Amino acid sequence: MSPFRSARWLVPGLGLLLVLALTQMPRLLQIPAAATSIGGPFDLTDQRGQAIKDTDFRGKLMLIYFGYSFCPDVCPTTLNQMVQAVRSLTPEQQAQIAPIFITIDPERDTVAQMAGYVASFSPALIGLTGTPAQIGVVSKNYHVYVRKAGTGANYGVDHSSILYLMGRDGKFLRHFDGTASAKELAAGLEQALDK
Ligand code: NI
Repeated sequence: MSPFRSARWLVPGLGLLLVLALTQMPRLLQIPAAATSIGGPFDLTDQRGQAIKDTDFRGKLMLIYFGYSFCPDVCPTTLNQMVQAVRSLTPEQQAQIAPIFITIDPERDTVAQMAGYVASFSPALIGLTGTPAQIGVVSKNYHVYVRKAGTGANYGVDHSSILYLMGRDGKFLRHFDGTASAKELAAGLEQALDK
């Protein structure tokens, strides 16, 4: 059993605990929710090579997942559930949601690599990459756990597996565990759209 394989279950769990701690702590400590934050401005490049900022999605809900295209199974599974969930909604609802995949492996996930990868899931899926510095900022702002595992060209990247739902104002609304089913995700999205 490789360390990567054994850590795979631990990492999403730790990430979830972190998010829970960050989202629940203000309530527990009775400090304003604004004191802790998940999200924030980002400045990235989409799979068409266009510059994309978080503000480009104002008025829509952003459903964001962080991972990498060379991920053997966690990312593809989660992205499948994500696009299925969005696809199950009405066209009017779909138009109000931006499903976004942000790479945490910018060295291998070039614009061309991302173009092929996101297209294999859905034409609606937006794939964002950037410089290592840009990706560093966004993954830090979303409290994503990222750790390179292994060496050589076929390295893995351990990462937390959480879907972030951001409101029309770009602020954090809620998260879904990466293991959530398409049905659970769709129900959560509908609930958020109704608000
Ligand atoms: Ni992954």
